Amino acid sequence: MITENSKIIKNRNIKGEYYQIDFYSPEIVKTVFPGQFVHVQVTGLRDKIFRRPFSIFDVSDDGVLSVIYKVVGEGTDILSKLREGEYCNLLGPLGSSYQSPEHNEKALLVVGGYGSASTYLLAKKLKGKGTIFLGAKNSSELILIDEYKKLGFDVKIATEDGSVGKQGLVTSLLAPYLNGENLKVYACGPNPMMYAMGRMLADTKINVELSLDHPMCCGVGACFACVLKVKAGNEQGWEYARSCKEGPVFNLKDIYLEA
Ligand SMILES: Cc1cc2nc3c(=O)[nH]c(=O)nc-3n(C[C@H](O)[C@H](O)[C@H](O)COP(=O)(O)OP(=O)(O)OC[C@H]3O[C@@H](n4cnc5c(N)ncnc54)[C@H](O)[C@@H]3O)c2cc1C
Ligand code: FES
Repeated sequence: MITENSKIIKNRNIKGEYYQIDFYSPEIVKTVFPGQFVHVQVTGLRDKIFRRPFSIFDVSDDGVLSVIYKVVGEGTDILSKLREGEYCNLLGPLGSSYQSPEHNEKALLVVGGYGSASTYLLAKKLKGKGTIFLGAKNSSELILIDEYKKLGFDVKIATEDGSVGKQGLVTSLLAPYLNGENLKVYACGPNPMMYAMGRMLADTKINVELSLDHPMCCGVGACFACVLKVKAGNEQGWEYARSCKEGPVFNLKDIYLEA
């Protein structure tokens, strides 16, 4: 884990409330694995002590680390107004990462909103490529479609209002594809979507990795603000795990799903 004062190379709106920011972070970039995140100290924010976590979307050989973010509150609003040449302090890379398929499984990526940023480095790394299922409330929440197509992914879309792709939830779009042999599912999106996915896949033999988005404070395992329940061999059957340290990527078989 490294802290690095990182110069903003570019910060631009990509669609609606979504932005891409590129930092020059040559030290952090050296050790990034797909699915990890950076904890960003947003320059100009009143409560500087509270960093904001963002998945690492992409990295380049020349030290650029990119994040895709949605403006949802004060921190992301201030971030969207920072300009080229300004600096933010980055802490990272943090957390667990997606594991590449070990048995040549076909990868199915299931994502919502900025979840598609979390799986992009994995998609770049996958040899056999695969299919990505994008779920959103409406078309304004669909991002990175062309980027995944360029990587050779088959892109399937579900929107709740039916404005693009199949109308409905991404889980119903995914369901018919789950009968295939030798699959591995990677998923990242809003927690209700992730827990719905978890419940749908819990009784199958499919290997599933989920990246869970729990609000964080320290980001480095010290404060226990980000815990969730994982299975354990104790009397109650569960214990807490920190989503910033043991996660954010968990294997579904380890997550304790409450009824
Ligand atoms: C591991 C991880 C990776 C993430 N990756 C990305 C990413 O790649 N791109 C991106 O845009 N965002 C990502 N997030 C969420 C991002 O951290 C929050 O949106 C951001 O911290 C909000 O800061 P803010 O000051 O703008 O909003 P705040 O003022 O802190 O909050 C505004 C609203 O957003 C809600 N909110 C805040 N944090 C979260 C959260 N973690 N999950 C759900 N709702 C939240 C609050 O409840 C509130 O309603 C990630 C979060 C985690 C834990
Ligand atoms: S945010 Fe402090 S332990 Fe995870």
